[in-house]
Amino acid sequence: MTPPDTLIRRQAFVGGLWCDALDGRRLAITDPADGSEICEVAHLSREDAKRAIGCAAEALPAWRARPAAERAAFLRRWADLVLESIEPLAKLLTREQGKPLAEARAEIAQAAAFLGWFAEEARRVYGDLIPAPRADRRTLVLKQPVGVVAAITPWNFPAAMVARKVAPALAAGCTLVLKPAPQTPLSALALAVLAEAAGLPPGVLNIIPGEAEPIGNALIDSHAVRKLTFTGSTAVGRQLLARSAATLKRVSLELGGNAPFIVFADADLDAAVEGAIESKFRNSGQTCVCANRLLVEDSIYDAFSARLAARAKALVVAPGLAPGSQQGPLIDQSAVDKVEALIADAVDKGARVLTGGGRHVLGGTFFQPTVLTEATADMQLCQAEIFGPVAPLYRFHTENEAVALADATPFGLASYVYSSDLGRALRVGEALQCGMVGINVGAMSTETAPFGGVKDSGFGREGSMYGIDEYLDLKYLSLDLSAR
Ligand code: SIN
Repeated sequence: MTPPDTLIRRQAFVGGLWCDALDGRRLAITDPADGSEICEVAHLSREDAKRAIGCAAEALPAWRARPAAERAAFLRRWADLVLESIEPLAKLLTREQGKPLAEARAEIAQAAAFLGWFAEEARRVYGDLIPAPRADRRTLVLKQPVGVVAAITPWNFPAAMVARKVAPALAAGCTLVLKPAPQTPLSALALAVLAEAAGLPPGVLNIIPGEAEPIGNALIDSHAVRKLTFTGSTAVGRQLLARSAATLKRVSLELGGNAPFIVFADADLDAAVEGAIESKFRNSGQTCVCANRLLVEDSIYDAFSARLAARAKALVVAPGLAPGSQQGPLIDQSAVDKVEALIADAVDKGARVLTGGGRHVLGGTFFQPTVLTEATADMQLCQAEIFGPVAPLYRFHTENEAVALADATPFGLASYVYSSDLGRALRVGEALQCGMVGINVGAMSTETAPFGGVKDSGFGREGSMYGIDEYLDLKYLSLDLSAR
């Protein structure tokens, strides 16, 4: 079944209207599985972005004044509509992004879960009454929406990352301008179709596909935009943060990762292999929480690597819409080139290819699930975010060595620890320099928990009861009771 036409939009969504770029430009969106064109979408520029900011600013007073229960009811309706359309939304997502349909369904369900979660959180934005320093004073703390928010979302999760940002912002009473990744705007636009159907007022959410730099700069340079939320590379995050200084915006950055996946000798090996498969090969290795370095205790290194290689080799590589597909194509040719170069460098420096190692016979951007042993710290893939289906295995001998190796990177997003010794797992989990640790768990992203990193992986948290705070300012009222 192809997605119904009503869900495929070729125009931007600004001020409650579907519209083209002011200069009429369009960009072809292609299916990474075969390079075919899906459709052309409006490709907006700086002037369009300014117009969208104006719409969001105009819509702000009425939206933030709505009772929280009304904003919550809208988000709930939206979540329900997303769930009702899970099949066509998942198919659209697979077509523009490439991931297997089963993963796309899970992503759409996750997007709905973010909308539903923040529908509930909208009603729990409590303030405080703080004991005052004098008998005739009262100290009140209010939480108020930050204002207009700019969101920039990535291509690897074209629906869930949109919902993870939009839901808390709207719940808090903010309005938004969202720029989806140029490769994958269709899922964001389809979500907007359903938001409209759920009763979204004009201007509250604006989706502007288009040119990354001019649009990004317009959003950041605008004083009307009070908050930027970005998911993407560390290099771009740094530039956005530096440029945000001029308008002193609040910023949250969910940036790159280099997740260590530590397997101790006392781990349940079957569970560790399954966890590694899930963590490494989900979305063809194109997630920022993917296991990037598998650190395996020396005494089980050979057994673990043999089992992992057998499981990786058995993964079904096929177009995402093909029945049984477990690994789709990479997003584009430059992703393939990067992965290939990292493998060549590693092999040159002594890594052994246990399985995979090159392009897949399907051609295009399909790549073989790859397991490399004897990886070492001098290889480029030890420091780089691989963003592809390549699992390099490193050896360690002691717990301290494992933690030191794990932390020997500027990144600090996710880490994974496999051990049947709960004391050790907790000790290591507490020690690791990162924002999230999976303990005997290979995939931990959920709407109920705070997602985010430290160090070069950025700051700010998404999801959970903390996620809405990113879109709220504290205001303190000092009240003199004796004043007339
Ligand atoms: C990512 O941001 O790349 C990972 C998102 C997720 O695991 O939900």
